Amino acid sequence: MKFFIDTADLDEIREAQSWGILSGVTTNPSLYAKTGGKLADFEDHMVKICEICDGLPVSAESTAETTEAMIEEAEHLASLAPNIVVKLPVCEASLPATHHLAKEGIRVNMTLVFSAPQALLAARAGARYISPFVGRFDDIAEDGLEQLNTVVTAVKNYSYGYWDEEGGPEIITASVRTPNHVTQAALMGADIATVPFGALKKCVHHPLTDQGLERFAADWAKVTGEAK
Ligand code: E4P
Repeated sequence: MKFFIDTADLDEIREAQSWGILSGVTTNPSLYAKTGGKLADFEDHMVKICEICDGLPVSAESTAETTEAMIEEAEHLASLAPNIVVKLPVCEASLPATHHLAKEGIRVNMTLVFSAPQALLAARAGARYISPFVGRFDDIAEDGLEQLNTVVTAVKNYSYGYWDEEGGPEIITASVRTPNHVTQAALMGADIATVPFGALKKCVHHPLTDQGLERFAADWAKVTGEAK
């Protein structure tokens, strides 16, 4: 499974990139707002992310509401850098936009996916990536992982004739909150997990690793004679 980072924070992206584990970045309007960014700086900010990521796919979300406006905004966003992927929310307006953009070779990440039928329609319309959300189901006391499993199984049953040479459509496990979301997504065969930096850090750690490190350090101090 590939790791994307789910953030618009440049420092977090730089640090995750330095770990050598990153295969892409996803952003959304909320994540950009969290950086304190203004509308006038949005495009420059996306270009900076693309530069940091050196060719990796970077999802920039459209806020347009009609098919025509989505196509226009998507074409503009895609012209900012070759690695821009345009994020569109699944809805009646975005399906024809996705189909149009796929025929132009513009990659769409279809977001806010909460059901298998939505995911199947996204794939059929020509989305390059499909983003089912896990954590937001958990937030309303439903089982996000069970929903993810349904989407992965349904989508992987078929081929769609778009993005075949790139191995698409790929499923991005989104709205990830915990290391267990990552584990279960990998076991289900989801292609990608997009993980916020905090949750990515949690994935590095394990209590037994931390305990083991302390024990090794204490025992090594006995060898070197240096008090710990
Ligand atoms: C990513 O593509 C999604 O926008 C993101 O994972 C949503 O996460 P949230 O539910 O934590 O806002």
